[in-house]
Amino acid sequence: MSLTFDFKPNPAPLATEEREGLLADPGFGRVFTDHMAVVQYTEGKGWHSARIQPREAIATDPASSVLHYAQEIFEGLKAYRHPDGSIALFRPDANARRLQNSAERMAMPALPEDIFVESVRALVRTDKDWVPSIPEGALYLRPFVFASEVFLGVKPSAEYIYAVIASSVGSYWKGGVKAISLWATKTYTRAAPGGTGAAKCGGNYAASLIALAEASRQGCDQVVFLDAVERRYVEELGGMNVFFVFADGTVRTPPLGGTILPGITRDSLIRLARDQGLTVEEAPYSIEDWQADAESGRLVEAFACGTAAVVTPIGRVKGDGFDFTVGSGGPGQLTERLHRQLTDIQFGRAADPYGWVQ
Ligand code: COI
Repeated sequence: MSLTFDFKPNPAPLATEEREGLLADPGFGRVFTDHMAVVQYTEGKGWHSARIQPREAIATDPASSVLHYAQEIFEGLKAYRHPDGSIALFRPDANARRLQNSAERMAMPALPEDIFVESVRALVRTDKDWVPSIPEGALYLRPFVFASEVFLGVKPSAEYIYAVIASSVGSYWKGGVKAISLWATKTYTRAAPGGTGAAKCGGNYAASLIALAEASRQGCDQVVFLDAVERRYVEELGGMNVFFVFADGTVRTPPLGGTILPGITRDSLIRLARDQGLTVEEAPYSIEDWQADAESGRLVEAFACGTAAVVTPIGRVKGDGFDFTVGSGGPGQLTERLHRQLTDIQFGRAADPYGWVQ
């Protein structure tokens, strides 16, 4: 199925000087472009009314089902400015498929892949001047779908709005990339077997916020969640997957078993590492082993990854009764190499043998 996007230009786009001022130091998630993409869904009619329009508030009835039962899913991907001035997306097809999987879990209609990719492309084409030129800057695209039927009965909504907004971004971390500290919470879990952990739904992030606040009270930058059954195995951070690098050169990351978000950065890094001859195990890793291996020197690096966070070294891990440092406490060699290899492909500084840059 394909749709044609109507175009309604913003009659009052931000002035060039003001835009350029914002793009010099955009931070993360606060600077938004002039337009948005919107597609509507109505049961019996399917996806319709595709358009690029001025970015504006979406009027929502107070009985809209998303406000009560949280039927909402989202994606995150970036558009990068390449050295020749062109702008490229990274694996938008993978984001489209993940949105479909999230939709299935949340009893929502699947958005066809070509509508997803075209919505993102059309928005990037329209707002291309908002892609920053600062080092590691990009246009962060946030596609999302929410239930818009005006009805308080508990059932899948008969109407949805799909929209894409775009945000000019620099580093996800205030003050730029540095090794982060983690708090391993034993109070809260992120996802239980059979739950929504593998879906990118807003509810997962809402439920993580209290744990993030606990981490912050403990003086840590981020929270690391353990599995909900044994409260031992490392799952993921609040919005990032996690990798471990051992002294013997092997790499490990928690397996996708329904409770972990299948990160596209995670998947790309596994491929990059394997293609340089490294063994990457998708296997459980307990917090006790993490501490013992960090203390014995068997574990030399750990890092977090995601579209927003890219590749971020983990320096220190704290929890009830423990506090340990990973490797040197700063970015390790493989962490830095994978970060460079991935971003070189994304920013068009290196060839892309995978067809990821589209
Ligand atoms: C991303 O990395 O794109 C995410 O969705 C993580 C967070 C900003 C919600």
